[in-house]
Amino acid sequence: MAPLRVGLIGTGYMGKCHALAWNAVSAVYGDVERPRLACIAEIDGELARRRAQEFGFESATGDWRELVHSPDVDVVSITTPNQFHAEMAIQALKAGKHVWCEKPMAPTLKEAETMHAAWDASGKVAVLGYNYIQNPAMRLIRKVLKEGTIGRVNHVRVEMDEDFMADPESHFSWRSEIAAGYGALDDFAVHPLSLLRPILGNVARVFGDMAKPYADRPTREGGRRAVETYDIATALLRFDNGVSGIVAVNRSAWGRKGRIQLQIFGNKGTIAFDQERFNEVQLFTTEGPTETQGFKTILTGPIHKPYDKFIPAPGHGLGFNDLKVIECRELMAAIRGEPATVLDFDDGIAIERTIHAIAASFQNGAWTPVTRG
Ligand SMILES: NC(=O)c1ccc[n+]([C@@H]2O[C@H](COP(=O)([O-])OP(=O)(O)OC[C@H]3O[C@@H](n4cnc5c(N)ncnc54)[C@H](O)[C@@H]3O)[C@@H](O)[C@H]2O)c1
Repeated sequence: MAPLRVGLIGTGYMGKCHALAWNAVSAVYGDVERPRLACIAEIDGELARRRAQEFGFESATGDWRELVHSPDVDVVSITTPNQFHAEMAIQALKAGKHVWCEKPMAPTLKEAETMHAAWDASGKVAVLGYNYIQNPAMRLIRKVLKEGTIGRVNHVRVEMDEDFMADPESHFSWRSEIAAGYGALDDFAVHPLSLLRPILGNVARVFGDMAKPYADRPTREGGRRAVETYDIATALLRFDNGVSGIVAVNRSAWGRKGRIQLQIFGNKGTIAFDQERFNEVQLFTTEGPTETQGFKTILTGPIHKPYDKFIPAPGHGLGFNDLKVIECRELMAAIRGEPATVLDFDDGIAIERTIHAIAASFQNGAWTPVTRG
């Protein structure tokens, strides 16, 4: 099979992460041909050229449209701020490219629906950057649930907290602009929803709340600018299958660096995970004498696939960037028509509809149904 030719738009935090994944995937897995790193697009040609050299890409452009329409590109990584995802993904799909787009799909539901329709019409693969589902710890959780170890699930609770926006004096950025979306709801809550979707399926209805911890922030140019987004969001969920859930997210949670605390409660036990304890799963079951019952810590290792592709030694630990390598390999499997663990634009639109239902519920102060296509 000819090597996949990759175009990367954006080279910030996630752009570098995608570039590392494209560079590493063949060496880590050994069963796919090394992708050809064809082209990088950035906001200007000079930055694009610098990044192309650093990341090992063959060419560079200051115009993302040139990349999207290049005959030398098969798949486009979109790692730009949220408000650019829709136009870039739609043009890429229309140009016959596969798409690997960072989450969320887009700031508005209308744009996300248009992306979904473009994907539907394209016959191409379109995968979203829901990397946390790829953690071998999360795969273990899904297996344990499937095997019925904690019995019938009756409640789930996910909290996602970081403190990169906790300082009221940190500068105003695109993340505080309404053009990027609601705030923590679409920036963060999409991740907990991505973890819950493969386990529990569709959300039927929601009750949402959002809050602004700080009214304004200093700008780099001087003065202050009113914050347009909500850095805190909470939602009650009710899934189609009757299970109840809570999602609580906060981008201004001092001391929390990368916490995604997932708890799943069943009628025979509980299973839990915390992203700050990346390589551990906590499992409690009601088996055995009551006096010796308690949570046990399972440390991931080569037995928890695909950990073995990275390191042969258990307990040495994977990290965040490794999730993107796994996601990249799954995307390549999907492109090859093989079974793949990914959240595509069909899953993505279900998550977006849930997000927008939470925002609508916050506005109307009532339980709100999640729309279906
Ligand atoms: N999957 C995850 O865990 C995760 C984590 C962080 C961010 N994200 C998502 O990744 C996306 C990017 O976030 P980030 O933190 O990397 O942002 P960032 O600001 O670090 O990087 C964005 C990059 O896009 C470039 N860019 C902006 N407009 C462009 C244009 N028109 N053409 C070409 N390049 C352009 C910028 O110059 C910058 O290099 C967001 O959608 C965000 O939600 C996902």
